[in-house]
Amino acid sequence: MNETLAKTDIKIEQVSTSRVHEVDFSNLQFGRMFCDHMFEMEYKDGAWAEPVVKPFGPVQITPAMNALHYGQAVFEGMKAFYVDENTVHLFRPKMHHARFNRSCRRMVIPETDYETFIGAIETLIKLDKAWIPQESGTALYIRPFIFASEDYLAARVSDEYKYYIITSPVGAYYAEGFNPVSLTTPDGYVRAVKGGTGEAKTAGNYAASFLPAKKAQERGYTQVLWLDAIEGKYIEEVGTMNIHFLKGDTLITPMLTGSVLSGVTRDSVIQIAKDWGYKVEERKVSIDEIFEASENGELTEIFGSGTAAVISPVGKIEHNGKTLEIGNGKIGDFAKRMFDEITGIQYGKVEDRYDWVHEINV
Ligand code: COI
Repeated sequence: MNETLAKTDIKIEQVSTSRVHEVDFSNLQFGRMFCDHMFEMEYKDGAWAEPVVKPFGPVQITPAMNALHYGQAVFEGMKAFYVDENTVHLFRPKMHHARFNRSCRRMVIPETDYETFIGAIETLIKLDKAWIPQESGTALYIRPFIFASEDYLAARVSDEYKYYIITSPVGAYYAEGFNPVSLTTPDGYVRAVKGGTGEAKTAGNYAASFLPAKKAQERGYTQVLWLDAIEGKYIEEVGTMNIHFLKGDTLITPMLTGSVLSGVTRDSVIQIAKDWGYKVEERKVSIDEIFEASENGELTEIFGSGTAAVISPVGKIEHNGKTLEIGNGKIGDFAKRMFDEITGIQYGKVEDRYDWVHEINV
């Protein structure tokens, strides 16, 4: 193993043999293969210490640690894109890091600084550049996460944490690829309420969604469309992505009520749509309004947005025994244009008018 120091004082322990030859780049699944290196940093005695980039592998934990029992854990999801052999783009890392810290605050986890975050990611990208897929639609998925690691069973805030960043070459998130997905509203389940943890990216939110998602999948639906927990009336999000509706020249996006995750791609969609001259409404949107708009021919498109999913057309929604179908199994023009614009900025093919891209010279 080689040991060197990165710019940001991150100690580097390099693998002696890369596993990159094990990757089938022509058949990438989401989050199955992990790059040679990972970032690790521990929090103890009131401070973050000793950042290190080391070979990807198992981590030692105690069976009594808080995160396993009480779920004190947060994560982020962002992507790096291959531009050319010397250049890689990160998409909106500052916004991802700000959300990471907001999630930490909600879960009483110590915040982290941007310099270490970006330094760690740059170090990983440079060491593992051979892992970055080059085909259109692919990317290197970056998963920063922190969990409470103290060896203590009392249900209280941990005094110790572990912070990791792992990376993985990925293709499309959904098996449908860029083809329309189908959604159903859950019968008797809710995702989050205002004042809860819905707007934090914390592990438990996702665990709580697995049973309704499994039931939806058993009935042939890709995912659950979450409604608000109080009235069961207003559309919130899909759980793995935010959602948008196009009615003629108006883009309608469920507002951030405190129980909806503040998506980075959601924010990008809204800014781009405004620049294109669309009327953009961030507001409460009821499931009944969407069914009515579909019945009277006003609804033009439905699509989701997320880091993993990018832009994902929605072709079908089931709610209370009624089904809305849209787009005849095809991708809508607006969703396609939005996908091309966002991925164009990400891959460096469309001018970055918003200063969203962080360039890394590899
Ligand atoms: C992402 O879009 O990056 C997410 O974190 C969603 C995750 C469930 C894959």
